[in-house]
Amino acid sequence: MLSCPPLRTQLVASCSAVREGGFLGEIRIMALILNILSPRRLGRLIANTRVRHHSSLTTELINNMDKKATWDRFYTENSKATNFKNFEWFFGFDAIREFILPMLHSQHNSDALHVLDMGCGTSALGPCIYRYSPWPVQVTCADISAIAVRLMQEHTETKALQPQNTSSKLDFLELDCTHLHKHFGSESLDLILDKGTIDALLRSREGGAKASQVLKQCLKVLRDSGSLLQFSDEDPDARMLWLEKEGQELGRMVANVGVQEVGELRGVTYYCYQVTAHPVAQ
Ligand SMILES: C[S@@+](CC[C@H](N)C(=O)[O-])C[C@H]1O[C@@H](n2cnc3c(N)ncnc32)[C@H](O)[C@@H]1O
Repeated sequence: MLSCPPLRTQLVASCSAVREGGFLGEIRIMALILNILSPRRLGRLIANTRVRHHSSLTTELINNMDKKATWDRFYTENSKATNFKNFEWFFGFDAIREFILPMLHSQHNSDALHVLDMGCGTSALGPCIYRYSPWPVQVTCADISAIAVRLMQEHTETKALQPQNTSSKLDFLELDCTHLHKHFGSESLDLILDKGTIDALLRSREGGAKASQVLKQCLKVLRDSGSLLQFSDEDPDARMLWLEKEGQELGRMVANVGVQEVGELRGVTYYCYQVTAHPVAQ
């Protein structure tokens, strides 16, 4: 297991947010609950213990994390409660920089590497890569929620972030990632990051087919040897099987799949799944 001290720092920060209460505290608790429990277990828990404080938004999230309307509502309510603050579904850039920066290092050439944060929400992951990559990167932060995209755009303009490499670029895009290929050309991306997005689809009542579609689209738009890094709390026994099964049926491309442990946050173990696209040998 990798030692990951920033996770502990994040844990302390998150716990204090929960103690503070209010909407931020509530959504952090929701994120925690949704990450730990499957919808069925959570439903049973709510029914059995008659939890009074779950809002209708929590109920909507439990069932409908694959729906644009759910996320528009989530980000609208989140932005009403406080001045804009990046919201991380679980850990942030510091906890996973050792997974991302070496990958950029190994892939970099004379052109900027094209990196996609798929389902970025209002996470600081994409902007941090833009800021801290010493190699030129073109970072696209894409989300199905127009609200999240607008908040990110406004925040970035206010902050006027300076990249470490002056050739780096950062942009935001409203996009349903089940249609990645409509926006990005075949084999055009070097790295795709997924922090909680496919998890959200897989944990929704009607999201399973969308999750498969997103993975297939990723493998279409990744260049040869480009990778999808997926951060998730799902156990490797289940996720590796799913990735291998879905990655097989792609015709032109085949996926190699690997996993590493990231660390523990609030008693939950997180993993980094790496899916690498390779052309099928003829
Ligand atoms: C669990 S949140 C994770 C957000 C962010 N990556 C983070 O770590 O905080 C899932 C995100 O996926 C987005 N999403 C859900 N379905 C999507 C789709 N089909 N295309 C693009 N984004 C989607 C949601 O709007 C939401 O921002």
